[in-house]
Amino acid sequence: MADETKDTLTVTDNRTGERYELPITDGTIRAMDLRGIKVDEDDFGLMAYDPAYKNTAATRSAITLIDGEKGVLRYRGYPIEQLAEQSSFLEVAYLLWHGELPSRDALATFQHDITHHTMVHENIREFIEAFRYDAHPMGILVGTVGALSTFYPDAKELDDPEVRRLQMHRLIAKMPTLAAYAYRHRRGLPVVRPDNELSYAGNFLSMLFKMTEVRYQPNPVIEKALDVLFILHADHEQNCSTTTMRGVGSSHADPFSATASACAALYGPLHGGANEAVVRMLRHIGSPKNIAGFIESVKQGEQRLMGFGHRVYKNYDPRAKVIKKLAYQVFDEVGKNPLIDIAVELEKIALEDEYFVQRKLYPNVDFYSGLIYESMGLPMDLFPVLFAIGRTPGWLAQWEEMINDDEQKIARPRQVYVGAGKRDYVPLSERD
Ligand code: CMC
Repeated sequence: MADETKDTLTVTDNRTGERYELPITDGTIRAMDLRGIKVDEDDFGLMAYDPAYKNTAATRSAITLIDGEKGVLRYRGYPIEQLAEQSSFLEVAYLLWHGELPSRDALATFQHDITHHTMVHENIREFIEAFRYDAHPMGILVGTVGALSTFYPDAKELDDPEVRRLQMHRLIAKMPTLAAYAYRHRRGLPVVRPDNELSYAGNFLSMLFKMTEVRYQPNPVIEKALDVLFILHADHEQNCSTTTMRGVGSSHADPFSATASACAALYGPLHGGANEAVVRMLRHIGSPKNIAGFIESVKQGEQRLMGFGHRVYKNYDPRAKVIKKLAYQVFDEVGKNPLIDIAVELEKIALEDEYFVQRKLYPNVDFYSGLIYESMGLPMDLFPVLFAIGRTPGWLAQWEEMINDDEQKIARPRQVYVGAGKRDYVPLSERD
């Protein structure tokens, strides 16, 4: 007779000999079910220890699916390759947020709502002017997104869906404006006001690059490439910055403050700062003949191959495939970025090398994106800011999902205390 199978996990606590049966739902056990496993009545109960949340699902989410083993990424069920090929960034933003692709009318309304919130208060421009001439644009972004919360005190009314909707429009609309203002400040150029007749990406290019011409006409190839790059960055389920967004949002901070914190998390070189780090690394390598030596130093643990590896993908990042193709389309238009030869050769060698094969390290989204940005004439320190613009709809969709999730409460992990036991205070005069 076949063994009876059940969706439960039976645990024997060898400290007590007690057996416990824990329900399994969607391939998970509830960490709180461990709490009932105790040595005696006074015992706090068992906890799961999981630094860096390597195997902990902190939410149920219907937004983005990653199958890291197969290299699959889908937003609301739609494969990323199809969205990159056929959709637009604002349509994807709508999809992430509302769960369905918009009708023609709904998309037109959404585009209108976003483009009519692109302006920022003049005080924000003055605020940006107060940053040092060489301030990193990502630092400016973190500061100014946070500052926006002081301009919109209504954003604190989290219980009102209409108020939340307005802030989400504002954030998606104003991120490119803040980014472009930060860039112009860096270059010592006057800011360019938003042009609402242009597309989302076209307007951003205008705010970055418009000089004395009456009307800036974006290059359609660059405009399309930027839109696709925004799509590819739009969401990536519970990554570091999204987890930060949810964590800060869980305290019921307003969405501007939560987005500023997400930007700060994204800033690091292990996350959204990696695109900048890749180009620095390729410049440092300088020539294909130096690749072997560089790979060796990576294998010796002296440095990391930036743009490679991922917590979830143990296969080629599907976004990197699209970006690699896109890079050549942009190069056909504006000329080849010479660093691409080093990047391609580096990738080829790394993908054949036992060190990378064994650890399943493949190129991620950041490996080729910086080369495209650089060819568009953008400075390296703006790259993480571009990532932030693309990721904003994802952060907001995840934030909105968290607010509406009855199971979510203020984020508050536990710890395993390993510090000193109780001891009495020693007055300063008695200390050596
Ligand atoms: N170069 C060399 N070795 C690496 C790399 C790399 N880029 N990434 C991981 N490894 C090695 C690591 O040393 C470790 O080896 P060992 O088992 O011998 O100690 C093993 O692979 C597992 O690495 P890990 O650090 O435990 O993996 P993680 O899941 O904690 O880290 C990561 C993921 C993305 C932080 C890491 O792969 C990394 O630092 N990559 C370079 C930075 C980068 O490209 N970041 C962008 C990520 S994608 C976009 C985004 O989400 O922002």
